[in-house]
Amino acid sequence: MEKFHISGGKPLAGTVHIGGAKNAAVAIMPAVLLADEPCTIYNIPYIDDVIILADILEEVGAKVSLNSGGCAVIDGSSVTCNKAPYDMAKRMRASYYLLGVLLGKFGEAEIPLPGGCEIGARPIDQHIKGFEALGAKVDIEHGVVKARADRLVGNEIYLDVVSVGATINIMLAAVRAEGSTTIVNAAKEPHVVDVANFLNTMGARVKGAGTDTIRIKGVDRMNGCEYTIIPDQIEAGTFMIAAAATGGDVVVADVIPKHLESTTAKLLEMGMEVIEGDDYIRVRGIRKPRKVNIKTLPYPGFPTDLQQPISVLCSIAKGTSIITESLFDHRFRHVEELRRMGANIKVEDRVAIVEGVDALTGALVSATDLRAGAALIIAGLTAQGVTEVENIHYIDRGYEKIEKKLSAIGADIRRLKDGENLLKVISSNIAVR
Ligand code: EPZ
Repeated sequence: MEKFHISGGKPLAGTVHIGGAKNAAVAIMPAVLLADEPCTIYNIPYIDDVIILADILEEVGAKVSLNSGGCAVIDGSSVTCNKAPYDMAKRMRASYYLLGVLLGKFGEAEIPLPGGCEIGARPIDQHIKGFEALGAKVDIEHGVVKARADRLVGNEIYLDVVSVGATINIMLAAVRAEGSTTIVNAAKEPHVVDVANFLNTMGARVKGAGTDTIRIKGVDRMNGCEYTIIPDQIEAGTFMIAAAATGGDVVVADVIPKHLESTTAKLLEMGMEVIEGDDYIRVRGIRKPRKVNIKTLPYPGFPTDLQQPISVLCSIAKGTSIITESLFDHRFRHVEELRRMGANIKVEDRVAIVEGVDALTGALVSATDLRAGAALIIAGLTAQGVTEVENIHYIDRGYEKIEKKLSAIGADIRRLKDGENLLKVISSNIAVR
C-alpha cells in the first residue's frame, strides 16, 4: 500500500493553484448524458473519483475521453443502458447521480446503493422522495435502487433535510420532466449552483440555484456545450489551513474567495492574516492560533468537509476549541489518529473538545476517509519529526497530486510505493546523483 512520508516543521511558502471542484465534476459528468450531443468540460480534477466515474459512464454506453489536463469530452448520445455496474458504482457516492440522469433520459434507472466516505449514516430517502414526487416508482432490491416512471411530471418537493446530493439528483431528473418543479429547502453549495449553470448551458431552465428554492421548467431536449467547472473550495480551504498550521505564507490561487468566506472568517478569528484578492487568498500563519468554536453547517456555514482539517489547527491552538459536527454522525474518525501525534481531543457524540498542545509529534497514522487523510497530512506538516500516512487511496479520491502541490511550496513530503521505505529511496537518490 502506498503511503506519504512527511518530515514536519517546515513553513509552507509560495503559490498553489487550485483545481476544479470534485463535487461539481462528479455531478456534471453524468449530467452530460441528458443531452443528445457531446459536451466538453474543462477544469475537471484528475482524481480517482472522476476516473472511476468516467469508467462507469463508459459502461452505460457513453463515449468518454478524459485526460490529466483537466478536460473531458463526453458523448451520451449513444447511451442505451439504464443500469450501472454494481462493483464500480458502489465504490463511490456520486454514482447515484445516474439515478436522476437515467430517470430523466429513459424513465428508468437501476443504480446500486452508493458507497462513499464512511462518515456516518448516508441515507438517500430525500432523493427517493423527490423521484416519487415526480411520478417515479422506486424500490430497493438486493442493494440496487430501481426507479421507473412512464412519464415524469413536475411537482413541488420539500426537502426534510438540506441535502446537496438530493438537491442535485432531483434537478437532474426534473429538467426533463413535463411542467414545473420547485425544490424547497434546497442546498445552496457552490457546486449545486455550478450544476444548475451547466444544465442551463445545455438548454435547461433552472432558476434560483444558490437560494433555498430552486424552480425548474422541464424541456424536451438538451444540447451539447462547453463548460468550465468552478474551483474546488474544499481543496482551497485545505491549503489555507495547511498554511496557517505550518506558520507559512501561501497564496492559494485560482479560487473564488466568496466560496471560502466561512473558512476565511475562522482563520481570522484564530489570529491568522488572510488577504483576499479577486481570484486568490493569501494566508499567513503569523502567530500560534487562538482557540475557536466551530459548528459545521450547510453552505454558507462552515463546511463539514473542512471540519477534520481545521481540527488539526485547533489541536495546536492556545486554549480549548469546541467543534460541533452537525451534518454527519461519525466524522471524527481522524481523532484517534491525531491522538497518536499528541493531540488532546475528547469526542462526545457530535462534539469534539480540543485542548490545544504546544506541538504535535510525528507518528505512523492511517487515513480513514478522504478529509481525515487531508487532516493527517496537515498534522504531519506541522508535527515535529517524521509522520507516515497510510491508506492514502482515500486522499487520491479527492485531491489531485497533493504531494506535488505541497512539495512545490516547501513541504518535505514523498509518496512511497508499496513496500518502499525512505532509506531505500534516499540511497537510490544518492546512487543516481
Ligand atoms: C455531499 O455529500 C458531498 N459529496 C460531501 O463531500 C459533503 O460532505 C456533503 O455533500 C455535505 O456538504 C459529494 O458531493 C459527492 P448531503 P452528500 O446529502 O450529498 C442527510 C467530500 O469529502 N441526508 O448534503 O451525500 C445526510 O445523512 C464529501 O467531498 C438524508 O438524511 O451529503 C447528512 O446528514 C464527503 N437523506 C445531510 O443530509 C438524504 O436523502 C447532508 O448530506 C440525503 C442526505
